[in-house]
Amino acid sequence: MTKEGQVLIEKPKESKAKNVGEKTETVEVFIMGKSYKVPAGLTIMKALEYAGYRYIRGCGCRAGFCGACSTIYRKEDEQKLGFDLACQKVVEDNMYLVQLPFVPASKAEYDIDKIVPKDSTIMGIYPEIARCVSCNTCTKSCPQDIEVMKYIQRAVRGDISKCAEISFDCIQCGLCAMRCPADIKHYHVSQLARRLRGKYLDTKSKNLASRLKEIENRKYDSEIEKLIKMDKNEIMDLYKNRKIEAEEEGEGGD
Ligand code: SF4
Ligand code: SF4
Ligand code: FES
Repeated sequence: MTKEGQVLIEKPKESKAKNVGEKTETVEVFIMGKSYKVPAGLTIMKALEYAGYRYIRGCGCRAGFCGACSTIYRKEDEQKLGFDLACQKVVEDNMYLVQLPFVPASKAEYDIDKIVPKDSTIMGIYPEIARCVSCNTCTKSCPQDIEVMKYIQRAVRGDISKCAEISFDCIQCGLCAMRCPADIKHYHVSQLARRLRGKYLDTKSKNLASRLKEIENRKYDSEIEKLIKMDKNEIMDLYKNRKIEAEEEGEGGD
């Protein structure tokens, strides 16, 4: 299964799970129905790799940002399904794991430069949001704990800023859209809201304005040129030794 957009994981030739020492605390997980004992405390992604599987697709940043590693699980004898990111969620005993391929949801075409943001803008581009039946399934599916139903309802009401604000942490994993009975494409809706907000409604960010000015003045061109010429090890060293900026007060936050 190596087609673009599909996961998954390659079958193990030999599982490392059997090498677990007696003293190691382990949990039992099920991958494609097969039982594996893996060390407690591993993320689902690391547990899969520990069991000998290799990610071919469905794995990107390994840090909770790219949304590529959607996972569904159910614990034995529990009715409730769990939804999470394989790179973030820690394994629990008796978890039955299913890695999901990305299921693309159609995205409306629009020219952000030609849109005039008003109450009806999002509804005009994504009219299906009017079909929301307030079941809250989207919110329960979100690994980022975002109030997904709430931001859709803000979009229905034409509150672009609030829709953008509530959805700020969306990583576009698509789990909400997979389960919605009204076939709403939540992450495309909220991306539109954030774009509209950034371009038209909340243009007072001092940091953003000064960064844009720097880019216009080509301040970073020479650094980018240098980066392009570096090899992988040099880039890794640069990353490891990077200066981490202190959070500036009064900026961002929403
Ligand atoms: S899953 Fe769909 S129908 Fe249900 S609350 Fe969310 S957006 Fe509305
Ligand atoms: S809002 Fe939807 S697409 Fe965004 S992180 Fe939550 S479940 Fe994933
Ligand atoms: S691999 Fe990117 S969010 Fe998990």
